[in-house]
Amino acid sequence: MRSYTLIAPAKINLYLEIIGDRPDGYHELAMIMQSIGLADQIDVRSLSIDTIRVHCNHPQVPTDKRNLAYRAAELMATQFPDTFAKYGGVEITINKHIPVAAGLAGGSTNAAAVLVGIDLLWNLGLTQSELEELGAILGSDVPFCIAGGTVIATGRGEQLAPLPNLDNIYIVLAKYRSLEVSTAWAYNTYRQQFGSTYIRDSASLTARANAVHSGSMVKAIANKNVVDIAQKLHNDLERVVLPEYPQVLQLRDVFASAEGVLGTMMSGSGPTVFALLESQQQAEAVKQQVRTAIPDEDLELFVTRTTTHGIKIASSV
Ligand code: C5P
Repeated sequence: MRSYTLIAPAKINLYLEIIGDRPDGYHELAMIMQSIGLADQIDVRSLSIDTIRVHCNHPQVPTDKRNLAYRAAELMATQFPDTFAKYGGVEITINKHIPVAAGLAGGSTNAAAVLVGIDLLWNLGLTQSELEELGAILGSDVPFCIAGGTVIATGRGEQLAPLPNLDNIYIVLAKYRSLEVSTAWAYNTYRQQFGSTYIRDSASLTARANAVHSGSMVKAIANKNVVDIAQKLHNDLERVVLPEYPQVLQLRDVFASAEGVLGTMMSGSGPTVFALLESQQQAEAVKQQVRTAIPDEDLELFVTRTTTHGIKIASSV
């Protein structure tokens, strides 16, 4: 039986702007997504029987259809029934390092790894854009997780345009283990509170989404100017999450006053807050400062850095 081990990186949002509503009930977004070194390891192996099995070392992660990685395997089985019949089922083992329900695309990157892994297991030879199209059926962030790097994401978040790589920025991540924010809640609350400001006509929607390409964050990335990137961080969802979750606001305040922090922001719909730094040494020092300021065992802290890849094959047997 063949098997593949894949590295599935998490992401942060350097920029997240909510532009308006979409006919499909989602939001029209303009985002800049960034892959980071913090990653899960996914093993995908052929089974001789027609089943999908998921194992995970994290007790909070479901191993049935509620898991997006399970649904990714199911999607491949229904899209390619002949290959599924030929090769049999799939066993997926998720070694979790990315915090769960954190705004870091942990579930999406696992699903992305399963799509890439099954493509290899079944010798399908799908192109990256074909894999991304399948990914978009599963969730808005899955196509980005396949591609990785530094990317402008528009539409629901599935339309991708690559940006120059950023591989030299250090990041501290902070998340309370027991705190979860529902992505659907965050977007729906945003619509309730700020829906009256949404752009409504489709020409203006497209123009606004296109404007991000020539915006100041893209210029800062093109210049690889870390100080400028850190000053341009933006996330509209902070407007609804910070007032509702004082712990997230507190993390942001502690990061903002820590020495060496160039900028801080909540990632996606939260509750993870990240800080950008110029060196690993500074990042480790900031992690220590936050640990001292908030001596709560529920608070998880990670030091990582930006990375230039999405799903990567680590080994095959
Ligand atoms: O696509 P995904 O399943 O990750 O989205 C989770 C939820 O986030 C959706 O059900 C929707 O409420 C919200 N969302 C949105 N607009 C987007 C992406 C997500 O409203 N572009």
